Amino acid sequence: MRKKVTIVGAGNVGATTAHWLAAKELADIVLVDIVEGIPQGKALDLLESLPVERSNVGVVGSNGYEPTAGSDIVVITAGFPRKPGMSRDDLVRANAEIVGAATAEVAKRSPNSILIVVTNPLDAMCEVARRVSGFPRERVLGMAGVLDSARFCTFIAMELGVSVDNVHAFVLGGHGDQMVPLPRYSTVAGVPITELLDKATIDRLVERTAKGGGEIVNLLKAGSAYYAPGRAITEMIDAILKDKHKILPCAAYLQGEYGIRDLFIGVPCRLGAKGLEKVVEIGLTAEEKASLEKSAQAVEALVKTLP
Ligand code: NAI
Ligand code: 2OP
Repeated sequence: MRKKVTIVGAGNVGATTAHWLAAKELADIVLVDIVEGIPQGKALDLLESLPVERSNVGVVGSNGYEPTAGSDIVVITAGFPRKPGMSRDDLVRANAEIVGAATAEVAKRSPNSILIVVTNPLDAMCEVARRVSGFPRERVLGMAGVLDSARFCTFIAMELGVSVDNVHAFVLGGHGDQMVPLPRYSTVAGVPITELLDKATIDRLVERTAKGGGEIVNLLKAGSAYYAPGRAITEMIDAILKDKHKILPCAAYLQGEYGIRDLFIGVPCRLGAKGLEKVVEIGLTAEEKASLEKSAQAVEALVKTLP
């Protein structure tokens, strides 16, 4: 039987994720949105592309949650995106309400599903989904690290004029301006970028990565990024549905790892059929550890403001 993925929020990120999932023939897809006609129209349009793509998945759109029952994975993208001048944190109150309501609906119909939260502010919205669903930490994850790391990879490849195939990068921490790109663990054909680029250049790429979401917001002016986020979500879904045991940077609810407890933060996670299999602890220098702690403090402060 084919797997089933529900995406709540059929806006830019939700619809783009559906597109990637369908093109890769990963699962049947249910798109849910409050705006009448939008999930139905986007689902039908996507479905009509699949005979050309030769992809055999079902795509349905709905304003209700009935078709979501029995989903293997639920992606939550419902909420408001940033506008120019807004921080992700400005979104907290409005989006906590939306994410909480969506989580309650999907958790009762798909009690064994794995939740992938995307709505911003990401780490705090993961906490909302965890509290409302009551799911164990293995089944509540947030997507940000794959996106932030992909941005870092992009900038490294551009700087060195090499194929993105050669570049691996790691970004940890909360999905905010205090995220923690890790140059020591970022490589080109296996060589750390600290061997290939001077400190000033690395600092510039790190800064551009941390502000990567804002760079797109300022260009688009109405809305935020969606192609790269959609692809990053698809990477997590692929690792889970194919039980890959793949290590990806994701927001996970830490229980003492990295000296952090009871908080979602971006760390390397091994993903498989059960969701989070393991938080992978890597060695950090005192400076990297301090940056991660600072990022965690920013997330903690935001979580304290949750209703
Ligand atoms: P969008 O505005 O294009 O789509 C959001 C959709 O949610 C809209 O179609 C809207 O009708 C729907 N919606 C609102 N309330 C709802 C409800 N109660 N139930 C169901 N649907 C509802 O926004 P976009 O660009 O898709 O972004 C969505 C969220 O994802 C934003 O919060 C954005 O900041 C966040 N985001 C997070 C990223 C990450 O790395 N974690 C990356 C990109 C976006
Ligand atoms: C991003 O990083 C808006 O969080 C979103 O593009």
